[in-house]
Amino acid sequence: MATVEQVQERHVDRAGLAYEVRDGRERLARFDRVARMYRAIEYASFGPALEWCRFCWIPELTRRQRALVLGDGDGRFVSKLLEAAPQLRADAVDGSPAMLRLLRRRVAGAGNEERLTTVCADARGFVPPGSGYDQVATHFFLGCFTEAEAEALIARVRPHLSPGARWVVSEFEVACGGALQRWLSRGIVSGLYAAFRVLTGLRVRRIPPWRALLESHGFVRVGSRTWLGGLLVAEVWELEWATASGMDAPNRSSFPVLP
Ligand SMILES: C[S@@+](CC[C@H](N)C(=O)[O-])C[C@H]1O[C@@H](n2cnc3c(N)ncnc32)[C@H](O)[C@@H]1O
Repeated sequence: MATVEQVQERHVDRAGLAYEVRDGRERLARFDRVARMYRAIEYASFGPALEWCRFCWIPELTRRQRALVLGDGDGRFVSKLLEAAPQLRADAVDGSPAMLRLLRRRVAGAGNEERLTTVCADARGFVPPGSGYDQVATHFFLGCFTEAEAEALIARVRPHLSPGARWVVSEFEVACGGALQRWLSRGIVSGLYAAFRVLTGLRVRRIPPWRALLESHGFVRVGSRTWLGGLLVAEVWELEWATASGMDAPNRSSFPVLP
């Protein structure tokens, strides 16, 4: 398992926003290199489809109080979330200072910077700065980790969540339709990993079994949507009360699982 030291430095960026830097010993994939062109590359390759994934569950999250947003890149999700939920505070964690700069700028542009804390850290050793989060978001992020790393991350985050906390996940997926569909989606996912390997040095080559990992840590799926024939998926998982607190939920929230 990666051992990562958290170095605790406080910085203030040009917009006057405080953020912390925690360096890991392990070399991180260098997403700094693609930060500025990330959105353009995304639109050129998938159009708005990745944004459908990121944003589709936001209406179900507007009553949440405290969000932990992991690897949000240029901040499109956290910015929209803060706009939709005026009471919510968010801690955004990313290993790329350039991505975090874009994220802070985007949130500040919408006037919501006071409700945002950013942490520059390697998620492979990261321990959440607070507790009582009732929402976690990982959009196209868990795919940056091996199964062991993703498992360790979920295990480290879970004790910092409140009972009933929701975890939203967007990911690419090898579609489970016909042979052609499977072949196509496998090709696209492999191509994406190859591109990120060249551009950022990312060493992971396959999406970890994040559903099984969330399940094994006491989460149950409460919402699921897919696009592009199953190539893209966005799901909401909820931490069961019994797992989180050892008691029954008095009023467990839920919403229908979509086809
Ligand atoms: C594929 S991008 C996804 C960005 C965004 N969430 C989206 O929906 O497009 C992965 C993001 O996770 C960050 N990241 C990758 N590996 C990381 C790690 N080990 N620790 C912290 N951040 C990491 C990258 O800097 C980048 O911002």
